[in-house]
Amino acid sequence: MHLSSVIFGLAGLLVSASAKPTNNTAYKHFDCDVNISRASEHFNKTVRLMHSGAFKAHSGSQIAGHAVRDASAGPIVVDVAFHIVTTAAKAGSITQKMADDQLAILNKAYKPSNVQFNRIATTFTVNDAWAVGAGSDAAAMKTALRNGTYSTHNIYFMTDLTGSILGTCSLPSDIGPGTPAPSTYITDGCMIQANTMPGGNIYGFNMGMTAVHETGHWMGLLHTFEGYSCTGNGDFVSDTPMQSTSTDGCPAKPPKDSCPQSPGVDAIHNYMDYSDDSCYTGFTGQQNKRMANMWSTYRLGR
Ligand SMILES: *[C@@H]1O[C@H](CO)[C@@H](O)[C@H](O)[C@H]1NC(C)=O
Ligand SMILES: *[C@@H]1O[C@H](CO)[C@@H](O)[C@H](O)[C@H]1NC(C)=O
Ligand SMILES: *[C@@H]1O[C@H](CO)[C@@H](O)[C@H](O)[C@H]1NC(C)=O
Ligand SMILES: *[C@@H]1O[C@H](CO)[C@@H](O)[C@H](O)[C@H]1NC(C)=O
Ligand SMILES: [Zn+2]
Repeated sequence: MHLSSVIFGLAGLLVSASAKPTNNTAYKHFDCDVNISRASEHFNKTVRLMHSGAFKAHSGSQIAGHAVRDASAGPIVVDVAFHIVTTAAKAGSITQKMADDQLAILNKAYKPSNVQFNRIATTFTVNDAWAVGAGSDAAAMKTALRNGTYSTHNIYFMTDLTGSILGTCSLPSDIGPGTPAPSTYITDGCMIQANTMPGGNIYGFNMGMTAVHETGHWMGLLHTFEGYSCTGNGDFVSDTPMQSTSTDGCPAKPPKDSCPQSPGVDAIHNYMDYSDDSCYTGFTGQQNKRMANMWSTYRLGR
């Protein structure tokens, strides 16, 4: 038996079946297009109340029946649907294994936050227009693919996402009383460059951390550099230092400090900065608390 030719044949198969990580010069910088000027008035008001400590269920949230989450409660379990959307030319390049590895990365990253993701579906779609998502194509894609309710996290992994961004997402907001039809919140969810998944071909951003970052927005977090200023409310989270610039790469030594007059150095390892995937280490305690409160205010039971 010619073992070497078997191995050689296998290796050849593997190379053609999954793209090798290459340097993709289009993405030297993480850009994600989410900031508070896109938030609803309700989110604006709620995030300010939460930041000031004055947030109270029933008065602050204005959504009856949604209490501040008890920290001793078990993990928040979020149903998640993955939608892999590729062009015809790239059909098959994003694999089930990449999706499985991505889910594992999400659950590992959110474990310390007491949040876990329960995948309900992974869909694979070949559609040249949806894989880009320009103009009305994004809404058409979501109308066709979105699964579940407002508490279901839908992530669209698109091979050619428009706008030179690695991802973007919607912040939570009040969807109105009762049980509104899913069509009223059809745009909710994250759109992410598919090759940011583990094993993707975007150098520096192919460990699945873009989905971790965008999910942070979906859970109600803003960037650590929100406002791009050393004054004001920043990200409305009390234990992240003021930060006036986003971070590229991982400038750990000397520590990056865009607001030297304020306590602390830039939180370059925080999931809500723009650092390289390998630079990220976690969320802060107050970010965890914010996500829990945003969850019970806006998405739990909805
Ligand atoms: C990509 O670029 C980085 C820095 O520019 C370099 O260190 C790395 O070796 C390159 N990797 C590949 C696969 O070309
Ligand atoms: C905030 O987002 C909007 C819409 O995406 C964008 O037009 C604006 O330039 C952003 N502002 C900042 C300060 O990034
Ligand atoms: C939310 O607040 C930001 C500034 O913090 C503002 O630019 C934006 O217009 C507000 N959105 C609404 C809908 O009020
Ligand atoms: C939505 O998710 C359910 C599981 O909860 C699955 O059975 C169903 O096939 C999914 N629908 C679509 C359109 O993906
Ligand atoms: Zn972002």
